[in-house]
Amino acid sequence: MSKRFYITTAIDYVNGQPHLGHAYEKIIADVIARARRSLGQEVFFLTGLDEHGQKVQQAAQAEKKNPQEYCDALAADWQAFVKKLELTNDDFVRTTQPRHKEFVQATLAKLRAAGQFYKASYTGFYSAKEETFLTEKDRLPDGTFDASYGEVVELKEDNYYFKLGAHQPWLIDYIEANPDFIAPSYRRNEVLGFLKNNTLEDLCISRPLARLNWGIPLPFDPEFVTYVWFDALVNYASIAHAHPELGLWPADIHVIGKDIVKFHAVYWPIMLKAMELPLPKQVLVHGWWQKDGAKISKSTGNVVDPMAVINEWGLDAFRFYVLRELDIGPDGNWTDAGFRSRYQAELANGLGNLVNRSLSMLKRYRNGVVPARSNELAADAAKAADETRALFKQSQLQSALQSIWGLVNRANKYVDETAPFKLAKDPAQAQRLDEVLYNLAESCRVLAVLLNPFLPGTSAKIYAQLGLTSTPDKLADATWGGLQAGHAIGEPAPLFPRKDV
Ligand code: ME8
Ligand code: MG
Repeated sequence: MSKRFYITTAIDYVNGQPHLGHAYEKIIADVIARARRSLGQEVFFLTGLDEHGQKVQQAAQAEKKNPQEYCDALAADWQAFVKKLELTNDDFVRTTQPRHKEFVQATLAKLRAAGQFYKASYTGFYSAKEETFLTEKDRLPDGTFDASYGEVVELKEDNYYFKLGAHQPWLIDYIEANPDFIAPSYRRNEVLGFLKNNTLEDLCISRPLARLNWGIPLPFDPEFVTYVWFDALVNYASIAHAHPELGLWPADIHVIGKDIVKFHAVYWPIMLKAMELPLPKQVLVHGWWQKDGAKISKSTGNVVDPMAVINEWGLDAFRFYVLRELDIGPDGNWTDAGFRSRYQAELANGLGNLVNRSLSMLKRYRNGVVPARSNELAADAAKAADETRALFKQSQLQSALQSIWGLVNRANKYVDETAPFKLAKDPAQAQRLDEVLYNLAESCRVLAVLLNPFLPGTSAKIYAQLGLTSTPDKLADATWGGLQAGHAIGEPAPLFPRKDV
């Protein structure tokens, strides 16, 4: 048996409610997970929450709550969000869980024993907001630090450090020898450029209790807790370890946003090498969403509430928009007008109209009974299926949607060209009408299979309207000819109701 395909998302800080960026990343990972299952692979999909560290401690303090209670309350909201997005995750990690904390401590103890850490005193600049130490190099030309660091204070303290420098040469070689390790390639080039032009500073892996107590205690020194990133990154391995029977490690894909590439493509591989674990196959980096050309921000109110969009337009419309609008890599811009326009053009008038008129005509002209097989659109369907299969293996989700819409558009054009409503008026054209109706119904069936990872609800509705009791979740079923002559379809109903706006 081949190894399970193990895919993860970043684990989100529980210092607020989920927003568009979080939803986008989780949907990317879910579609890849579903696509791999559709290809016949066994999959393990992990997502979850990053609950320790200064950001969470401060957010809890602001609400006068004990951090664990604060996390528990918010974790319930985030888990409801996972349900709302219909994510097919196989586990949900919270870094406050004992199974994770114990693994982090065991890892720290092992690395300490292997001589990877040393203790040293440091004097310098610290940003609490970004939980990071800054150096002279981080100063702007005017001598200040970027506003994104918040208040920067000078401090002197003892800490434990992880020796990174010795790892730099092999990491460069590794990234050069494994071109798919960081995707897209321009992110890989950025990391290589960074590694070749800078000497890595050792990573501070502890925080003194006096400054931060919301963290995992260092197993070898109770005066310190673990730096939140050393804790958070380890989730990918701790949860693999929690399911030993599945043989999950190494991960196949870590889906993350562009702001945390250095943690995943530099620190994490070095940590794994020191832990004597193999490296993940790929770090897949997505871009950031803006709204109306400006940064998404709670304080300015420039936000997209995924829950509200889903409640108004349906989950599949939301999943479709974010993946069709934005390829995995560049930054994107949400506009309500853009959303509505894709909904009308591609979902309501494109896919929805195709399925509705195809099945309604089959109902009206043939009493819902599938005629004999005809292969006029078979090559178009095979092209879409072949392309989709190849693109799924590359995690090229936007291109897969474009390819699938190639078939939607071809089939809609076929309706216009063959004009079945005219054929129906001429008894001499009965056989031609049979052919057309078969090609349309079978195209709808193939589309349900291809679309299943993206639009699982819509895909299931198409199968139900076709009167099929099987599930459209195996790409192998996209082969032309699945609908049998004599099969009776179900009731057609609009998939994407038109909205007057
Ligand atoms: O960074 N558009 O958590 P986080 C797209 N806990 N993606 C966005 C986004 C936007 N506007 N805003 C945020 C953390 N993201 C750490 C991760 S992993 C071991 C620890 C993405 O809640 C961001 O890029 O700040 C990241 O991948 C994810 O949301 C969680 O961000
Ligand atoms: Mg962040």
